Amino acid sequence: MSAENASPESKAVFSAALQARLDALATKYPVKRSALVPMLLYAQDEVGYLSDAVIAEVARRIGITELEVRNVATYYSLLRFKPAGQFNIQVCTNISCMLRGAYEVYERFQEELGVGQKGVTRDGVFSLEEVECIGACCWAPAIQVNYDFLDDVKPDQVPGILQVYRAKEGAREKGGNA
Ligand code: FES
Repeated sequence: MSAENASPESKAVFSAALQARLDALATKYPVKRSALVPMLLYAQDEVGYLSDAVIAEVARRIGITELEVRNVATYYSLLRFKPAGQFNIQVCTNISCMLRGAYEVYERFQEELGVGQKGVTRDGVFSLEEVECIGACCWAPAIQVNYDFLDDVKPDQVPGILQVYRAKEGAREKGGNA
């Protein structure tokens, strides 16, 4: 199915550019199902989270049930089922990070942002969550902000980290969300 021939449901859920990207993805793998996680990531990048409509549309494209999509998606901490902030901050508190101060880092983020687990700031710029290992144990404690990895993070660095992303948000707004 090409972007031009997309179903009305697909058009309502995804932009034409994303439909074309998903069409291309579906042809890249010998088994269509292998495209599931990349499709979900691209869809989440555009829509902001895996809404019911996104899950239904991806399931239709892959040819599996919505339950199968959910079963896979719940395994990945990068995928979410509720809207998040513009910058989603994930703090790993698994063993390596915990032993090197991850909870102090997480608490500092909570203080600075005024939100708890899976909270979103009032301005919608940040959301925060405590997650399991993000594969950066050698550089613990590690955090992830959207697709950026930050390692060996200290609580005192938290305000500076937030400032960097606030500046990015400000620049994006000035540039008309470019
Ligand atoms: S334990 Fe934190 S990245 Fe692995």
